[in-house]
Amino acid sequence: MEKTKLQVFIKPSQLSRRIKQLAADINHDYRNKIPIFIGVLNGAFIFMSDLIREIDVKCEVDFLKLSSYGDSKISSGEVKTIKELNCDVKGRDVIIVEDIIDSGLSMKYMLSQIKKHKPKSVRLAALLHKKDVAKIDFKIDYLGFAIDNKFVVGYGLDFAQRYRNLKGIYVL
Ligand code: IMP
Ligand code: MG
Repeated sequence: MEKTKLQVFIKPSQLSRRIKQLAADINHDYRNKIPIFIGVLNGAFIFMSDLIREIDVKCEVDFLKLSSYGDSKISSGEVKTIKELNCDVKGRDVIIVEDIIDSGLSMKYMLSQIKKHKPKSVRLAALLHKKDVAKIDFKIDYLGFAIDNKFVVGYGLDFAQRYRNLKGIYVL
């Protein structure tokens, strides 16, 4: 794959170190609970798989899929559910796993959808947050890295569906 236009942003070693720390926090907070991790497809699939393997409390996993961006770098502001949940989250402790919070619109929509199913609790784990883009009105309980407003790819994150397979995170 052509990597010439890509600039290293977060190395695989930094990702794995940080993810171990997030998992340690989750393991501590959810001891004696059985959380359901809900990953947001497609972007969160690699973060989810690495995070979940550091979790040592009993847990379940599901995914849902939203769409908003098409193949553009700028959010269309319109969010839809493409794949619904398969699990019943009523009365359960839910941890949403997302790759990146940019405008926060996708997560706002996602939280409203999940809360309709009356979970006992909902927390959010996000690998990245573009901290200067927008003021978000929800809390990111487990955040990997707060980053500047740059378009990043790799480690699950794409541009026009490409680059998800890269082991690190790069600025495009
Ligand atoms: P938001 O609704 O603006 O917060 O956008 C969130 C979604 O847009 C994320 O789940 C990503 O799928 C995508 N996204 C936002 N910023 C980037 C980026 O820098 N690289 C790749 N995808 C991004
Ligand atoms: Mg996403």
